[in-house]
Amino acid sequence: MEKIIIGGGKRLCGEVNISGAKNAAVAVIPAAILADDVCRIENVPNIMDVQIMVKIMKSLGVTVKNINKNTLEIDPRPINSYHVPAEMANLLRASYYFIGALLGKFGKAHVFMPGGCNLGVRPIDQHIKGFEALSVNVNIDNATIIASADRLLGGPVYFDMSTVGGTINVILAAVKARGLTVIENAAKEPHIVDLANFLNLMGADIRGAGTDIIKIHGVDSLKGCTYSIIPDQIEAGTYMVAAAATNGDVLVKNVTPKHLESISAKLIECGATVENYDDSVRVTGNGRPLKCNIKTMPHPGFPTDMQPQFAVLLSIAEGTGIVTESIFENRFRYTDQLIRMGAQIKVEGKTAVFEGISELKGAPIKADDLRAGSAMLIAGLAARGETEISEINHIDRGYEDVVTKFKALGANIKRSEFKDFKQVKNVG
Ligand code: EPU
Repeated sequence: MEKIIIGGGKRLCGEVNISGAKNAAVAVIPAAILADDVCRIENVPNIMDVQIMVKIMKSLGVTVKNINKNTLEIDPRPINSYHVPAEMANLLRASYYFIGALLGKFGKAHVFMPGGCNLGVRPIDQHIKGFEALSVNVNIDNATIIASADRLLGGPVYFDMSTVGGTINVILAAVKARGLTVIENAAKEPHIVDLANFLNLMGADIRGAGTDIIKIHGVDSLKGCTYSIIPDQIEAGTYMVAAAATNGDVLVKNVTPKHLESISAKLIECGATVENYDDSVRVTGNGRPLKCNIKTMPHPGFPTDMQPQFAVLLSIAEGTGIVTESIFENRFRYTDQLIRMGAQIKVEGKTAVFEGISELKGAPIKADDLRAGSAMLIAGLAARGETEISEINHIDRGYEDVVTKFKALGANIKRSEFKDFKQVKNVG
């Protein structure tokens, strides 16, 4: 098993290029199934979650070629299956987008329950409610979602909460359904707009993506196209926070500054300077961070996927900061790791209170999930001494070339093989 080793305390300085958005790519890739021709997708992040999505596509019979590191060519014409079995679906959350995409293609989908980060209970009742509103029959048999419709018919869908996955799944199913689908209380995240732009380029008729009412007029067919994925908001935010936490000076390139507004606003509250350019932002630290309070909200509110990274800033800030998590019920597991590094954090239900200390100390820690993992990287970079992060497979799921990128900013960071106790015993 690999781990990441960091010699902390170095200011990060220089430039970093942000990759394509993970959560857009994992929706756009299955959407390509709906085309009657080849789609070329550019700016695809080269990360584990994308590789798994490609593996699932191939298992369905779809031809997927890697044109280069960040470009995929997808030919859906040979598709011959609507089954996504447990061993594939279990590997990530986004496997559930195959329900919507296969329903749109065949009117049928058999997809095992999705995996993904352990952030507490993650029900899919809203997805099912959405499919049923499109005249789909949905049953769950032996943890497999069995969905089928004689003919998908557009209909009204009202979500009880803002759900990214539910909104994407209903768009995928509705795009070729007969008639009009209206999604009310739709999620507004940038990747929803990206998916709609991709499908519209293929010939779909989706209006209102990015607002809370999305209208979809079903079309008979979709054609192939060439499309470039938007920059990753959360990867960008992670490097922005790393710059502030190390009192550094980093130009974060290939971003959409509009998508980073809530992150920039909180960084400024924490005392950093943020300068916006056309497609880049520069973050400069101004000494020890200041405390702030954070409440996670659906877009355009502060993203839950940036909560653990900001927790590192609050751990070393002057004063007491409070984080309220309002999207997921169990997103503070990483605080145990920060406490191992000396942080003073009290978690009670949906709230965590951070009494800032002057510095974290390097320690052996682990990545509990993807964003927790990126927070551990920032903690290690900001801390005094050496930090070893294990279970870095979580980080590889969503961050392209993370060690190379941090190294280029001056970090003392490397990947290293390590022998766990069992291996050491075997060697001995
Ligand atoms: N929810 C329900 N029922 C549903 C769907 C959602 O109760 O049918 C609840 C969830 O339990 C949660 C809230 O609604 O409390 C919002 O969940 P949402 O559906 O928006 O989240 P998701 O689709 O499961 C995506 C991202 C997450 C990101 C969230 C919130 C992907 C593949 N995943 O998850 O990304 O945290 O939206 O923005 O797009 C990550 O990238 O690290 C990650 C976890």
